[in-house]
Amino acid sequence: MQILVTGGLGFIGSHTVVELQNKGFDVVVIDNLSNASIHVLDGITAITGKKPEFYNIDLRDKDLVFDFFNQNPDIEGVIHFAASKAVGESVKNPLLYYENNLNSLVYLLQNLQDKARANFIFSSSCTVYGQAAQMPITENAPIQPALSPYGNTKQIGEEIITDTANVTNIHAILLRYFNPIGSHPSVQIGELPNGVPQNLVPFITQTAIGLREQLSVYGDDYDTADGTCIRDYIHVVDLAKAHVVALERLVHKKNTEKVEIFNVGTGTGSSVLEVISAFEEVSGKKLNYKIVERREGDVTEAYANTDKVHSVLGWKAESTLKQAMESAWLWEQKIRSK
Ligand code: WQD
Repeated sequence: MQILVTGGLGFIGSHTVVELQNKGFDVVVIDNLSNASIHVLDGITAITGKKPEFYNIDLRDKDLVFDFFNQNPDIEGVIHFAASKAVGESVKNPLLYYENNLNSLVYLLQNLQDKARANFIFSSSCTVYGQAAQMPITENAPIQPALSPYGNTKQIGEEIITDTANVTNIHAILLRYFNPIGSHPSVQIGELPNGVPQNLVPFITQTAIGLREQLSVYGDDYDTADGTCIRDYIHVVDLAKAHVVALERLVHKKNTEKVEIFNVGTGTGSSVLEVISAFEEVSGKKLNYKIVERREGDVTEAYANTDKVHSVLGWKAESTLKQAMESAWLWEQKIRSK
């Protein structure tokens, strides 16, 4: 059984390819390398000993997507990561996000809709909840009007999948991620942000290694214990394993609904200052940071209620924040040592 992983050379995609191969799946990767390096393929192979079949395809090209599926009729599962994901960029260039994140999804589903059965795992995000009224956040929390075109593409993407699954033999699981961080313990793959990192953890490690002058902490006047925002930081390997468990649920036809939704987090919230402290403890380095004004669009707090993902999917995060920060730091040191 072949499994297609789109965006399979990206941060979460590459870690998921490793875990799929570890579980014996035959993995095919599509990536247009817009936010990933071809060398990630070597990293995956170094870890698992198996080089995944790789196609450099831009999923916005409808003909290429249809040609791929015509040449690969045995694809029975798709884990769809390929998408643009920078919140700020999406505000400046919404059509780039609507075209890239939604056209590609439609073309994939058009190639699955006539199969006797197709299994589809979608990379969604806790961003669909906006600022949820209640912590920890359950899957029943209301979907809030999106704060960015990026977040809107996740909401619309979920609706496109649901509408399609309801009238075809596509069975889907939507995984709403919280904040993925860290890197593989082998230090062969990890996060490779393009340009100046938008996310907290890569900015921390790049500051510590001397690539960035100073970390700006976006506000300490929020209604939290130390005034900084709270998030649910999940080790990327734990997140990758959640995808494998979700795929196995679909492949073994254990799903009880055509579309199932899971919040994938640790269930623990950590503030920005707590993340900085965790980093300083595991690295032994004092981080140079300053408090600045709030960042537009940030929510005060978001962390997952993990009851459903534990009880239904049988998955739980294993790594602690410190372990995740240590893996991120090891990776930063490795890629800067080249
Ligand atoms: C975390 C906290 C910032 C950078 C976004 C997307 C989400 C997902 C993950 C794609 C916030 C603070 C950050 C910095 C800071 N994206 N921060 N200084 O915004 O929770 O989630 O990335 O899958 O969909 O919404 O993550 O890492 O950007 O920010 O103080 O230089 O760190 O204000 O409180 P976020 P983040």
